[in-house]
Amino acid sequence: MLIRLLYISRSVGPQTSTVTGSILKTSLTNNRINQITGVLCQGVGFFIQVLEGERNNVNELFLKIANDRRHKNVELISFEEVTLRKYPKWLMAHIDLSEMDPMVALKHPEFDPYSASGKFLNQQLEDWILSGSPINPA
Ligand SMILES: Cc1cc2nc3c(=O)[nH]c(=O)nc-3n(C[C@H](O)[C@H](O)[C@H](O)COP(=O)(O)O)c2cc1C
Repeated sequence: MLIRLLYISRSVGPQTSTVTGSILKTSLTNNRINQITGVLCQGVGFFIQVLEGERNNVNELFLKIANDRRHKNVELISFEEVTLRKYPKWLMAHIDLSEMDPMVALKHPEFDPYSASGKFLNQQLEDWILSGSPINPA
């Protein structure tokens, strides 16, 4: 059974390219083995990630991610059964939002992912993917 999950979190410490690079490196290796695909969006002070794959694999990974000390306030926003993957070719694409849209920062009251609906955040993610240039690591 395939599922797609979206969560948000606040980053802990500086979001350096070393930290992100290390997360992505691990993700590529593990996600290939576990047949997980998705997108990791990195904004100023927060992450939004979509994970898709077999339900047990995604659950197992989400529990690991939720306990990762590189971020906090991990909040599950949506969890749905799907028939097809949206990102079948992306073991974990990466979008850096900080340069694309400076309004997308937790310090701006207009942007509050913790109050947004799952529908809104899923749509917002689609918009970023279309307007940005996700780095597809596959
Ligand atoms: C924002 C964020 C996103 C992550 N995404 C993934 C992922 O897609 N796949 C993955 O295997 N690990 C991901 N991780 C890392 C996991 O939390 C964990 O460190 C890793 O899966 C452990 O791998 P290991 O058991 O091979 O040491 C992420 C961590 C953070 C902070």
